[in-house]
Amino acid sequence: MEKTRETFGSRFAVIMAMAGSAIGLGNIWRFPYMVGQYGGAAFIIVYIACSFLLALPIFLSETIIGRRSRTNTFGAMEKLAPGTSWKWLGLLTVISPVIILSYYSVVGGWSVEYLFKSLSFEFTDTDAGSIQSLFGTFISSTWEPLITHTLFMLMVAGIILAGVKSGIERFTKITMPVLFVLIVVMMIYAISLPGSGAGVSYLLKPDFSKLTMSAVAAAMGQAFFSLSLGVGTILTYASYVKKDENIFASSIGTAVSDILFALLAGFAIMPAVFASGVEPGAGPGLVFQTLPFIFNKMGTAMPVVSSLVSIIFFVTILVAALTSAISMMEVGVSYLVDNKGMSRLWATVTVTVFAWAVGILCSLSFGPLSEVKILGNSIFDFLDKMCSNFLMAFGGLLFTLFVGWKMDEASVRDEFTNGGTKKRNSRWFKTVYFLIKYVAPVAIVLIFVTNLIIS
Ligand code: TRP
Repeated sequence: MEKTRETFGSRFAVIMAMAGSAIGLGNIWRFPYMVGQYGGAAFIIVYIACSFLLALPIFLSETIIGRRSRTNTFGAMEKLAPGTSWKWLGLLTVISPVIILSYYSVVGGWSVEYLFKSLSFEFTDTDAGSIQSLFGTFISSTWEPLITHTLFMLMVAGIILAGVKSGIERFTKITMPVLFVLIVVMMIYAISLPGSGAGVSYLLKPDFSKLTMSAVAAAMGQAFFSLSLGVGTILTYASYVKKDENIFASSIGTAVSDILFALLAGFAIMPAVFASGVEPGAGPGLVFQTLPFIFNKMGTAMPVVSSLVSIIFFVTILVAALTSAISMMEVGVSYLVDNKGMSRLWATVTVTVFAWAVGILCSLSFGPLSEVKILGNSIFDFLDKMCSNFLMAFGGLLFTLFVGWKMDEASVRDEFTNGGTKKRNSRWFKTVYFLIKYVAPVAIVLIFVTNLIIS
């Protein structure tokens, strides 16, 4: 007899769990620097379009597969398409998140370092110029970033081993709203700084003439990365969703809150970028070079408040990063436990050591290994591009193809509308099915191939 699978208690719980995975460094760290590298407002418009037209269909495909099969990616494919090669999709979804984890942990480590710096009042006791060079010195050194990368990795492994996921989830319910409020406060403060106006218009006035094909591919990649798509994370979470839950409403809720978080972060960072004179295209360090500038400015008027805000801010970022990182590690660990018969301890050790070792190379690629280029990119950028622009897009494509072409339409409709009981979903079904079956796959392939040819 089949065991009854645990389920999330409420729509709020579902959105919080999925948003816990979705909202992370992707919104606060990755989004602003992508916007800066690919030209501002035009990039944001493409990103939002990709989120609704391509990412949301993938999100829904993963939710439909997950809830219908009530098991992880491997099992889901076996259950819904037994004996086919769809099971290989499962393998892709194990490898990608572990690679992502390796460089994600490096950036997680940077937040650890910045938390330490806030605790020792380094931002309030200095000037704008030194804040920028602080990051450069830190990142290009050999040992410090490796130590913080290791610390972050150990925290992730510790949480996975202790299985305090429910504790973490309870914790996120407090930290997410706190982070939200803090970002809004910082955004308002950043916009009020002298010289910030240029940043605001950079975000609001699109210049489509500068929009290149690689910017479009990057916008698509950002939408996928930010919603944790194409690697089965959402699929696995959806397998815990109740049968009478409205998956359409929950998915839209998650996507909208994720986009909102990214936009808020953009509106907090970009004005500060222009006010502080940092180059918008500065790359992965952008947020770390400009956030402390806001704290520093705040500090001249209210030193205690500013230090407190910066400490709370980096703690909440760290928690947001951890809740995303555990969702990556869990995929690999549960695969090794369920399919390879490893103990949870050994599975965790294996994944941790692998991701940690790859992460070392990523971290060093900002310093001693900065000369090493793969297809013109640093090791860090290469892995990030390979995952977000290719592996995740490929996984996402396969999920939409599975729902659009492999599953029969009646079961998809049944799952999407909860057996026809959700009237609004029934009205939306045709549009959503069209997006899943045609629009998303065709657009992904087009962007994918064009980018491949020109890059
Ligand atoms: N979406 C997360 C963020 O924006 C990162 C993330 C979590 C992720 N799980 C993932 C990315 C799985 C890719 C795949 O920070």
